[in-house]
This record gives sequence, structure tokens and C-alpha cells, in this order.
Amino acid sequence: MAHQWRGVLREYADRLNISDATPIVTLGEGGTPLIPAPALSARTGARVWVKFEGMNPTGSFKDRGMTMAVSKAVEAGAKAVICASTGNTSASAAAYATHAGITSAVLVPEGKIAMGKLAQAIAHDAQLLQVRGNFDDCLDIARELAANYPVHLVNSVNNDRIEGQKTAAFEVVEVLEDAPDFHIVPVGNAGNYSAYFRGYSEELARGISTKLPRMFGFQAAGSAPIVLGHVVKHPDTIASAIRIGNPASWELAIAARETSDGYFGAISDDMILEAHRILSAEVGIFVEPASAISVAGLLERSAAGEIPAGATVVLTVTGHGLKDPQWALRAADGSDVTPTSVAVDTDEIADVLGLVKATA
Ligand code: F0G
Repeated sequence: MAHQWRGVLREYADRLNISDATPIVTLGEGGTPLIPAPALSARTGARVWVKFEGMNPTGSFKDRGMTMAVSKAVEAGAKAVICASTGNTSASAAAYATHAGITSAVLVPEGKIAMGKLAQAIAHDAQLLQVRGNFDDCLDIARELAANYPVHLVNSVNNDRIEGQKTAAFEVVEVLEDAPDFHIVPVGNAGNYSAYFRGYSEELARGISTKLPRMFGFQAAGSAPIVLGHVVKHPDTIASAIRIGNPASWELAIAARETSDGYFGAISDDMILEAHRILSAEVGIFVEPASAISVAGLLERSAAGEIPAGATVVLTVTGHGLKDPQWALRAADGSDVTPTSVAVDTDEIADVLGLVKATA
């Protein structure tokens, strides 16, 4: 029988805290492509690869952590999970919970999550509540509910989430046959940044890789608490997935930056959208705005002379563009893109396309 990728818990069973007693709740997550990006290599002089996490079952990296968190929740007898979310965690929690036959409750900031993600959570039968507050308010309430009611918290403050997400670093090392020199990720709660660091640290300890990558994380300028060194009360950015003012894994992330000689930077929304266009139009990978910040971060650090020529750089792009497609229909000058309309007329269409008939 042809080999089918079995999901991260089965593929990395020996590297995760699971046993025969753990019911494996999987939708086949992980095993995502690491794609060479010649256009970004040409722009920077580095050897750039893109880890396309939008290829996971619900379209984001969250599935790696959610297979672990929901499996462990079911093992512990949970009948319901809860999370706060800017969208992707809720879509993933809803899908894995429903697959396991348990219920999910999700708290999202009202009017601030992308339509694709809202639709996913509802489609997967979550009890979705729009809270009239921001993500940080939602997480506070989710933690309080999990502490006092029979609901299992599946935000990344749950270590099982980080454990599942560290598998992405294993996959990178497998493909490159070592760790890269730099690894760049978008940062919201800094859970994923911390998870990659853990995964790479374990590979180094096992003697599979020879180094730790320098871990570079980027926040949107309007919600950059780690860069600023203080909580941002009213975070703002078009990259709604990372609109977070008080990251849950702040301390883990600071430790990871120190050990890996890493970096945290802030990127403007305009630069995020520019990077989104470059990734779509030059590399052929469609992501949501928050994911494009990895590309923007690379270009910014490269322009600052901080990325040596020939360095191996892996960018994680965290979520699929189809979740939040509206940004592609906005031109660089901010105007709406309107596709040209034509009649059912081959000659006219050839003319509009600028095609010149081949002569015999
Ligand atoms: N990229 C995307 C597409 C995300 O959805 C998130 C987080 C991040 C990056 C940042 O990851 O929080 O581990 O630093 N989304 C969470 C959610 C907050 O609720 O979906 P992080």
C-alpha cells in the first residue's frame, strides 16, 4: 500500500509524551512542504526556504499542537475543550474536537477575526462566542473558565500545544539534514517561536543537527509588546492573527532568543502587505497577512545587512491565504483590484491579453 503521512503523533511517537493509552486524534497534520524560494534568495543573497504551514488540514500550523492537545484532553477524560483565539486556533480546536466526538467552545474578539476562520469554527460545530473585547481579554476568560469549570484549555499555555508544534522543527532538520542558520516566524503569543526553539534544541541534543538556528521573530508594529518590552493595551494591525498585546509565552520566548542569539523586530502593516504581494506574485505561495511578516522580516534584516550571503534561512508561513483572501484584491496603492470584463470573443480576448497570432 502506498505510504500515507500518519500525522505528527504517529510519525514522532518516540519524541512526544504519548503512550498506548493515548487515543490519537488526528486529521493527518504535519509533513508540510519546505519549499525553496528562488525569488527571495535572489533578493537577499541567502538560501531561502519556506515552510508552508497553510498546508495543514485546517490551513494553519495550529493543527500540530491541536492533535496533541485534544488527544491528551480525551485521554484525561475531557468532554469539552475551550480556547481564546484570533481565528486559527478556534478553527483547529473545533475541527479536532468534533473529530474526537467532544465539544468545543471558542472565544474570539468580536469583528476582529478573518471570515474564513469564523466560518471554519462554525462549520465544525464550535460554540463560538464573539467577545466585545480583544484577544487578551478572551484568553483571560478562557483561563478562568478552565480553572473553574469542566472544560479543558487548548491554548498554547497548555504545554501539549507547544510539544505538538515542535515537530515542525524536526521536519525542517530532516529535509535540510541540519538546522538552518536562521529561522524566522511571526509572533503573537510567541508559542510557535518557543516550539521551534524547543524542537531545534532537541535535535541538537540528539546529535542530529550541528547547531541551533538564530531564532528571529516578528510582531506587527501596532502590536509589538515583546519588541517594546511592555504590554500593549490596545493592539492594532491588519494582521489580525497576531493582534495580541500580552503574549502568553513571553518568558519562554525571551529565553529562546537569548540562547539562540535571536532577535525580535516590528514590521509596519504596509511592509506586511508588500511582503504578502512578493510571496504571492514572485514565489507562488498564498498566505494570510500575519504569515507574510516572516518574509517582511527577512527583507528588513537583509536590508540592514544582518543576513550573510549564502546563509540558510527558513521562513515559517503559518496560515493559508484562503482564510483571509481580501488583501490580495488590494493593489499596492490601496485601490481595489477589479478584473477586466470581456465579451465572448476570441479576437477581443487575444487583443486584451496582448497576444499576437503566430504566423505559419
Ligand atoms: N500566524 C498565524 C496565522 C496565527 O494564527 C498565529 C496565532 C501566529 C502566527 C502567531 O503564533 O501565537 O504562537 O506566536 N494565532 C493564535 C490564534 C493566537 O488564536 O489563532 P503564536
